[in-house]
Amino acid sequence: ISLKPYNTFGLNARAKYFLKVETVQELKDALSLTAYPDKFILGGGSNMLLTKDLDCLVIQVALKGIEIIEHQEDDVLIKANAGENWHEFVMWCLKHDFGGLENLSLIPGNVGTAPIQNIGAYGVEIKDTLESCEALNIATKTIETFTNDQCQFDYRESIFKQDKKNAYVILSATFKLTTGKHQLHMDYGAIRTELEAMSIVKPTIQDVSKAVIAIRESKLPNPKDIGNSGSFFKNPIISKTHFDKLKNNFPEIPSYPVSPTEVKVPAGWLIEKSGFKGKTFDEYGVHKKQALVLVNYGNAKGSDIFDLAKLIQKTIQHIFGIRIEMEVNII
Ligand code: EPU
Repeated sequence: ISLKPYNTFGLNARAKYFLKVETVQELKDALSLTAYPDKFILGGGSNMLLTKDLDCLVIQVALKGIEIIEHQEDDVLIKANAGENWHEFVMWCLKHDFGGLENLSLIPGNVGTAPIQNIGAYGVEIKDTLESCEALNIATKTIETFTNDQCQFDYRESIFKQDKKNAYVILSATFKLTTGKHQLHMDYGAIRTELEAMSIVKPTIQDVSKAVIAIRESKLPNPKDIGNSGSFFKNPIISKTHFDKLKNNFPEIPSYPVSPTEVKVPAGWLIEKSGFKGKTFDEYGVHKKQALVLVNYGNAKGSDIFDLAKLIQKTIQHIFGIRIEMEVNII
């Protein structure tokens, strides 16, 4: 079958065999199918670039359900299964006035893939509210619980991308969210500007979500209209010494402090400065409003987008001496 509907890049790669699983037992059974030794686990398809057909069994994890586990004084524990759409889950939390995920509105993908890369936006990451997650150990077919600490979260990183890569299937994630005393995260300047534009003086978590949605819609392409996987690269972290040297040649280079000796530089700026912003090649290119996003205008091949990504990487290495790492999984 064509995987076009199952990847937000809208790439027309094909899967030799495809199975959708809706329960943990179905997932275990699918993983045990010896007739198909090679298997590929598919979640929301929002963080991958398919550069070829998949000559294996693709298992789509479609475990649904959201559950209130426990009410505490000012908090609540909410468990969402891996196949829930992330944004719909955030909207569900806001409808119940549960706070903590509002800054993560409109991020494409599913709940199950969110912990893998510790999704983050507008000053918040899921590591800030994630209590634990359950995952199926593929080798032993047993369910294990990972606490927040055990997930080893970092900027766009977790144990599931490092030591435990491809060893587990995330089944659910549990979040600790606020019920009454919400803490708003508005450090990201554009949120305040957006709220002011909406004439909101005393913002609620729902207002913050609206502001975030407006900001995202103004910069980021909707995968329903233009295929993409959000930020294609991570923002690189470089030494202050390196940064100070670059500042001599590029006085306007932006940066964010990370540690006393390191800063983070926006990859979008480096890509724009290298002349790639808005560049279009036939069916694919670099988004016009956000240079960190590569796009498929319709019938691009994943391998062409991958080649473009490598060219961008090489150019930035050449101009700035910085290696930018791809954030998207290259398949
Ligand atoms: N910039 C440019 N040109 C561009 C894009 C960005 O010069 O074309 C510079 C500007 O200086 C701008 C700065 O980069 O002020 C930061 O841009 P923006 O606020 O759009 O954020 P980002 O660093 O490009 C990161 C995340 C996004 C997240 C936003 C907001 C990564 C890899 N990306 O992008 O996450 O939504 O911050 O918090 O960290 C995603 O991961 O898919 C994603 C969209």
